[in-house]
Amino acid sequence: MSASVKRKWLGIFLQKGIPKPQASVEILWQMGVSKLPAQEQIPEFEKLCAMREINLPLPYCIGRWSFYKMQLAVQKPILIPRIETERLVKEVLIAESHNDAKRFLDVGVGCGAIALSILNERPSFQATGVDILPEAIKLTSENASTHGLRDRIHLWEGDLRDYPSDKLFDFLVCNPSRTETKLLKDKISQDEAQHTHDASFNGGSNGLDMIRMVLECSKALVTPGGSIWLELDAHQVEQRFWEPFSDFIEIKRSFSETSWNSDSTVWFCELKRK
Ligand SMILES: C[S@@+](CC[C@H](N)C(=O)[O-])C[C@H]1O[C@@H](n2cnc3c(N)ncnc32)[C@H](O)[C@@H]1O
Repeated sequence: MSASVKRKWLGIFLQKGIPKPQASVEILWQMGVSKLPAQEQIPEFEKLCAMREINLPLPYCIGRWSFYKMQLAVQKPILIPRIETERLVKEVLIAESHNDAKRFLDVGVGCGAIALSILNERPSFQATGVDILPEAIKLTSENASTHGLRDRIHLWEGDLRDYPSDKLFDFLVCNPSRTETKLLKDKISQDEAQHTHDASFNGGSNGLDMIRMVLECSKALVTPGGSIWLELDAHQVEQRFWEPFSDFIEIKRSFSETSWNSDSTVWFCELKRK
Protein backbone atom coordinates (compact mmCIF):
# COMPACT_ATOMS: atom_id res chain seq x y z
CA MET A 1 0.00 0.00 0.00
CA SER A 2 2.70 2.51 0.99
CA ALA A 3 4.62 1.71 -2.23
CA SER A 4 1.70 2.68 -4.45
CA VAL A 5 1.05 5.93 -2.56
CA LYS A 6 4.75 6.79 -2.77
CA ARG A 7 4.71 6.08 -6.55
CA LYS A 8 1.66 8.29 -6.97
CA TRP A 9 3.37 11.24 -5.23
CA LEU A 10 6.65 10.71 -7.04
CA GLY A 11 4.70 11.07 -10.31
CA ILE A 12 3.02 14.26 -9.08
CA PHE A 13 6.31 15.79 -7.88
CA LEU A 14 8.00 14.94 -11.21
CA GLN A 15 5.16 16.41 -13.19
CA LYS A 16 5.15 19.62 -11.13
CA GLY A 17 8.93 20.02 -11.22
CA ILE A 18 9.34 19.78 -7.42
CA PRO A 19 13.10 19.73 -6.57
CA LYS A 20 14.52 16.32 -5.50
CA PRO A 21 11.29 14.39 -6.08
CA GLN A 22 12.53 10.93 -5.05
CA ALA A 23 14.29 12.20 -1.92
CA SER A 24 11.20 14.25 -1.04
CA VAL A 25 9.00 11.14 -1.04
CA GLU A 26 11.46 9.13 1.04
CA ILE A 27 12.21 11.88 3.58
CA LEU A 28 8.53 12.70 4.07
CA TRP A 29 7.84 9.05 4.72
CA GLN A 30 10.84 8.37 6.96
CA MET A 31 10.86 11.58 9.00
CA GLY A 32 7.20 12.43 8.72
CA VAL A 33 5.16 9.29 9.22
CA SER A 34 7.22 6.11 9.66
CA LYS A 35 6.88 6.20 13.45
CA LEU A 36 3.10 6.75 13.47
CA PRO A 37 0.61 3.92 14.06
CA ALA A 38 0.01 2.08 10.74
CA GLN A 39 -3.54 3.36 10.21
CA GLU A 40 -2.37 7.01 10.47
CA GLN A 41 0.58 6.76 8.12
CA ILE A 42 -1.07 7.08 4.71
CA PRO A 43 -3.47 9.97 5.55
CA GLU A 44 -0.64 11.91 7.23
CA PHE A 45 1.72 11.18 4.31
CA GLU A 46 -0.86 12.51 1.84
CA LYS A 47 -1.11 15.70 3.94
CA LEU A 48 2.66 16.24 3.97
CA CYS A 49 2.97 15.52 0.24
CA ALA A 50 0.22 18.04 -0.51
CA MET A 51 2.39 20.66 1.27
CA ARG A 52 5.45 19.63 -0.71
CA GLU A 53 3.39 19.84 -3.90
CA ILE A 54 3.12 23.61 -3.37
CA ASN A 55 6.91 23.75 -3.07
CA LEU A 56 7.12 24.02 0.72
CA PRO A 57 10.68 23.04 1.78
CA LEU A 58 10.82 19.59 3.39
CA PRO A 59 11.63 20.77 6.95
CA TYR A 60 8.62 23.11 6.89
CA CYS A 61 6.38 20.22 5.75
CA ILE A 62 7.63 17.99 8.56
CA GLY A 63 7.68 20.84 11.11
CA ARG A 64 10.98 19.87 12.69
CA TRP A 65 14.64 19.45 11.67
CA SER A 66 17.84 18.18 13.24
CA PHE A 67 20.51 20.65 14.22
CA TYR A 68 23.68 19.67 16.10
CA LYS A 69 22.34 17.29 18.78
CA MET A 70 18.78 18.58 18.89
CA GLN A 71 15.50 18.21 17.05
CA LEU A 72 14.04 21.68 16.64
CA ALA A 73 10.64 22.88 15.55
CA VAL A 74 10.95 24.79 12.27
CA GLN A 75 8.27 26.91 10.73
CA LYS A 76 7.97 29.31 7.85
CA PRO A 77 9.00 32.14 7.50
CA ILE A 78 11.98 31.44 9.83
CA LEU A 79 15.25 30.18 8.33
CA ILE A 80 15.77 26.40 8.32
CA PRO A 81 19.08 25.96 10.21
CA ARG A 82 21.96 24.90 7.95
CA ILE A 83 24.30 21.98 8.52
CA GLU A 84 27.36 24.24 8.20
CA THR A 85 26.14 26.37 11.11
CA GLU A 86 26.79 23.34 13.34
CA ARG A 87 30.46 24.09 12.72
CA LEU A 88 30.00 27.55 14.23
CA VAL A 89 28.53 25.91 17.34
CA LYS A 90 31.46 23.46 17.52
CA GLU A 91 34.03 26.27 17.22
CA VAL A 92 32.37 28.23 20.03
CA LEU A 93 32.18 25.14 22.25
CA ILE A 94 35.89 24.41 21.71
CA ALA A 95 36.81 27.99 22.65
CA GLU A 96 34.36 28.12 25.55
CA SER A 97 35.28 24.72 26.90
CA HIS A 98 35.13 25.62 30.58
CA ASN A 99 31.87 25.70 32.35
CA ASP A 100 32.33 29.12 33.99
CA ALA A 101 29.11 31.10 34.07
CA LYS A 102 29.03 33.14 30.85
CA ARG A 103 26.45 35.37 29.20
CA PHE A 104 26.28 35.48 25.44
CA LEU A 105 24.21 37.15 22.76
CA ASP A 106 22.87 35.40 19.63
CA VAL A 107 22.02 38.06 17.05
CA GLY A 108 19.33 36.92 14.61
CA VAL A 109 18.37 33.95 16.74
CA GLY A 110 15.98 32.44 14.13
CA CYS A 111 14.57 29.17 15.49
CA GLY A 112 17.17 29.23 18.30
CA ALA A 113 19.55 26.71 16.71
CA ILE A 114 22.85 28.31 17.73
CA ALA A 115 21.91 29.67 21.17
CA LEU A 116 20.03 26.55 22.30
CA SER A 117 22.77 24.16 21.13
CA ILE A 118 25.36 26.11 23.12
CA LEU A 119 23.13 26.30 26.20
CA ASN A 120 22.45 22.59 25.97
CA GLU A 121 26.19 21.82 26.15
CA ARG A 122 27.12 24.45 28.75
CA PRO A 123 24.75 24.22 31.74
CA SER A 124 26.10 27.33 33.47
CA PHE A 125 25.72 29.67 30.46
CA GLN A 126 22.92 32.20 29.98
CA ALA A 127 21.88 33.51 26.57
CA THR A 128 20.01 36.42 25.08
CA GLY A 129 18.48 35.94 21.62
CA VAL A 130 17.50 38.94 19.52
CA ASP A 131 15.54 38.84 16.27
CA ILE A 132 13.69 41.38 14.21
CA LEU A 133 11.00 38.83 13.30
CA PRO A 134 8.34 38.12 15.97
CA GLU A 135 7.86 34.59 14.57
CA ALA A 136 11.53 33.86 15.35
CA ILE A 137 11.16 34.90 18.98
CA LYS A 138 8.04 32.76 19.35
CA LEU A 139 9.68 29.73 17.72
CA THR A 140 12.86 30.02 19.80
CA SER A 141 10.76 30.29 22.95
CA GLU A 142 8.88 27.12 21.97
CA ASN A 143 12.11 25.23 21.19
CA ALA A 144 13.70 26.44 24.44
CA SER A 145 10.71 25.16 26.45
CA THR A 146 10.73 21.79 24.66
CA HIS A 147 14.37 21.29 25.62
CA GLY A 148 14.08 22.61 29.18
CA LEU A 149 16.20 25.70 28.43
CA ARG A 150 13.62 28.47 28.68
CA ASP A 151 14.86 29.74 32.05
CA ARG A 152 18.36 30.30 30.61
CA ILE A 153 17.46 32.30 27.52
CA HIS A 154 16.14 35.83 27.49
CA LEU A 155 14.43 36.78 24.21
CA TRP A 156 14.05 40.24 22.75
CA GLU A 157 12.16 41.12 19.59
CA GLY A 158 13.42 44.02 17.49
CA ASP A 159 16.29 45.47 15.50
CA LEU A 160 19.66 44.94 17.21
CA ARG A 161 20.34 48.67 16.78
CA ASP A 162 17.54 49.37 19.28
CA TYR A 163 18.52 46.70 21.82
CA PRO A 164 18.65 48.33 25.27
CA SER A 165 21.91 46.97 26.61
CA ASP A 166 22.56 47.17 30.32
CA LYS A 167 25.35 44.68 31.06
CA LEU A 168 28.09 43.68 28.59
CA PHE A 169 28.07 40.13 27.17
CA ASP A 170 31.05 37.80 27.45
CA PHE A 171 30.71 36.88 23.77
CA LEU A 172 28.44 37.27 20.75
CA VAL A 173 27.49 34.79 18.01
CA CYS A 174 25.81 35.60 14.74
CA ASN A 175 24.91 33.87 11.51
CA PRO A 176 24.11 37.06 9.61
CA SER A 177 21.83 37.59 6.63
CA ARG A 178 24.51 38.17 4.02
CA THR A 179 23.36 37.54 0.46
CA GLU A 180 23.75 40.45 -1.93
CA THR A 181 20.30 41.71 -2.87
CA LYS A 182 20.94 41.27 -6.59
CA LEU A 183 21.99 37.62 -6.08
CA LEU A 184 19.01 36.59 -3.95
CA LYS A 185 17.23 35.06 -6.95
CA ASP A 186 20.28 32.96 -7.97
CA LYS A 187 21.53 31.89 -4.55
CA ILE A 188 18.34 31.07 -2.69
CA SER A 189 16.44 28.02 -3.87
CA GLN A 190 13.05 28.82 -5.30
CA ASP A 191 11.16 26.91 -2.60
CA GLU A 192 12.97 28.69 0.24
CA ALA A 193 12.70 32.12 -1.38
CA GLN A 194 8.94 31.65 -1.58
CA HIS A 195 8.45 30.65 2.06
CA THR A 196 11.33 32.06 4.14
CA HIS A 197 11.40 35.73 5.11
CA ASP A 198 13.72 37.94 3.09
CA ALA A 199 15.24 39.27 6.36
CA SER A 200 16.96 35.88 6.76
CA PHE A 201 18.99 36.31 3.59
CA ASN A 202 19.19 39.88 2.43
CA GLY A 203 22.48 41.53 3.34
CA GLY A 204 21.91 44.65 1.22
CA SER A 205 23.64 45.75 -1.97
CA ASN A 206 27.05 44.23 -1.08
CA GLY A 207 25.85 41.58 1.38
CA LEU A 208 27.65 43.29 4.26
CA ASP A 209 24.89 45.40 5.84
CA MET A 210 24.04 43.08 8.73
CA ILE A 211 27.67 42.07 9.35
CA ARG A 212 28.76 45.72 9.61
CA MET A 213 25.77 46.55 11.79
CA VAL A 214 26.57 43.69 14.20
CA LEU A 215 30.22 44.75 14.45
CA GLU A 216 29.25 48.35 15.00
CA CYS A 217 26.75 47.43 17.75
CA SER A 218 29.05 44.91 19.38
CA LYS A 219 31.37 47.70 20.51
CA ALA A 220 28.67 48.61 23.05
CA LEU A 221 27.54 45.04 23.73
CA VAL A 222 30.63 42.86 24.19
CA THR A 223 33.11 43.14 27.01
CA PRO A 224 36.72 44.12 26.07
CA GLY A 225 38.58 40.88 25.30
CA GLY A 226 35.30 39.13 24.50
CA SER A 227 34.78 37.28 21.22
CA ILE A 228 32.51 37.93 18.28
CA TRP A 229 31.80 34.76 16.30
CA LEU A 230 30.53 35.12 12.75
CA GLU A 231 29.53 32.81 9.93
CA LEU A 232 30.56 34.39 6.61
CA ASP A 233 30.88 33.65 2.92
CA ALA A 234 34.32 33.27 1.35
CA HIS A 235 34.63 36.78 -0.13
CA GLN A 236 33.52 38.33 3.16
CA VAL A 237 36.69 37.32 5.01
CA GLU A 238 39.00 39.52 2.93
CA GLN A 239 41.37 41.73 4.88
CA ARG A 240 40.15 45.02 3.40
CA PHE A 241 36.72 44.31 4.81
CA TRP A 242 38.00 44.26 8.41
CA GLU A 243 40.21 47.31 8.13
CA PRO A 244 37.57 49.85 9.21
CA PHE A 245 36.98 47.82 12.38
CA SER A 246 40.14 48.70 14.22
CA ASP A 247 38.38 47.98 17.53
CA PHE A 248 38.73 44.25 16.81
CA ILE A 249 41.52 41.82 16.19
CA GLU A 250 40.91 38.76 14.10
CA ILE A 251 42.15 35.68 15.86
CA LYS A 252 40.70 32.75 14.00
CA ARG A 253 39.39 31.73 10.60
CA SER A 254 38.26 28.29 9.58
CA PHE A 255 35.99 26.97 6.89
CA SER A 256 33.42 24.25 6.57
CA GLU A 257 33.80 21.34 4.19
CA THR A 258 30.08 20.68 4.21
CA SER A 259 27.52 23.14 3.08
CA TRP A 260 23.81 23.25 2.46
CA ASN A 261 24.50 24.58 -0.99
CA SER A 262 27.55 22.56 -2.02
CA ASP A 263 28.94 25.20 -4.37
CA SER A 264 29.51 27.75 -1.60
CA THR A 265 32.29 27.84 0.97
CA VAL A 266 31.31 28.97 4.42
CA TRP A 267 33.78 30.55 6.81
CA PHE A 268 33.80 31.09 10.54
CA CYS A 269 35.65 33.96 12.13
CA GLU A 270 36.43 34.78 15.69
CA LEU A 271 37.19 38.43 16.35
CA LYS A 272 38.21 39.83 19.69
CA ARG A 273 37.20 43.19 21.11
CA LYS A 274 40.36 45.09 21.99
C1 LIG B 1 20.71 34.00 8.46
S1 LIG B 1 19.38 34.10 9.63
C2 LIG B 1 20.06 33.14 10.97
C3 LIG B 1 19.04 32.42 11.81
C4 LIG B 1 19.61 31.45 12.84
N1 LIG B 1 20.55 32.12 13.73
C5 LIG B 1 20.28 30.28 12.16
O1 LIG B 1 21.53 30.27 12.08
O2 LIG B 1 19.58 29.39 11.68
C6 LIG B 1 19.52 35.76 10.18
C7 LIG B 1 18.49 36.18 11.22
O3 LIG B 1 18.75 37.56 11.56
C8 LIG B 1 17.53 38.24 11.73
N2 LIG B 1 17.80 39.69 11.52
C9 LIG B 1 18.00 40.32 10.34
N3 LIG B 1 18.24 41.62 10.56
C10 LIG B 1 18.20 41.82 11.90
C11 LIG B 1 18.36 42.97 12.75
N4 LIG B 1 18.63 44.17 12.24
N5 LIG B 1 18.24 42.81 14.09
C12 LIG B 1 17.95 41.59 14.62
N6 LIG B 1 17.78 40.48 13.87
C13 LIG B 1 17.90 40.58 12.53
C14 LIG B 1 16.60 37.62 10.70
O4 LIG B 1 15.24 37.81 11.03
C15 LIG B 1 17.03 36.13 10.75
O5 LIG B 1 16.26 35.40 11.66
